[in-house]
Amino acid sequence: MLGVPEAQDVFVREERRREGIGEAVMLAVERAVTGRGHRQVSLSYGIANTAARRFYKRLGYRHAGIEPQRVQGTIIVRSGPLEVDDTLIYLVKDLA
Ligand SMILES: CC(C)(COP(=O)(O)OP(=O)(O)OC[C@H]1O[C@@H](n2cnc3c(N)ncnc32)[C@H](O)[C@@H]1OP(=O)(O)O)[C@@H](O)C(=O)NCCC(=O)NCCS
Repeated sequence: MLGVPEAQDVFVREERRREGIGEAVMLAVERAVTGRGHRQVSLSYGIANTAARRFYKRLGYRHAGIEPQRVQGTIIVRSGPLEVDDTLIYLVKDLA
């Protein structure tokens, strides 16, 4: 989404999941985004990723109105090149 900051690479070590770390990370992301003057934050997750779907729904993310996108090959995210073969669902959250 043009001009909307995008959260990428949200990852919690497997042995520390369901402790609220992911939620704390996303709230910190949202504070940082708001602090820079933005009113929305966006992200995407793989269509089969049920944990991510529930996680983001609970945090108030909604469909961004973008068709799910089939992505295959190497994409560049902040942490570097990433091999992807997935259908991505795009979400957005309006920040207070
Ligand atoms: C998605 C992810 C970041 C969640 O991190 P987390 O620290 O486990 O999440 P939290 O403990 O803050 O969970 C908050 C809520 O999200 C929902 N949730 C999180 N993981 C879930 C799961 N596996 N199944 C169902 N609901 C889940 C629950 O409502 C949970 O609250 P609860 O534990 O009280 O029921 C983590 O599972 C992860 O790193 N996954 C691999 C990478 C990934 O898929 N990243 C996101 C896609 S880009």
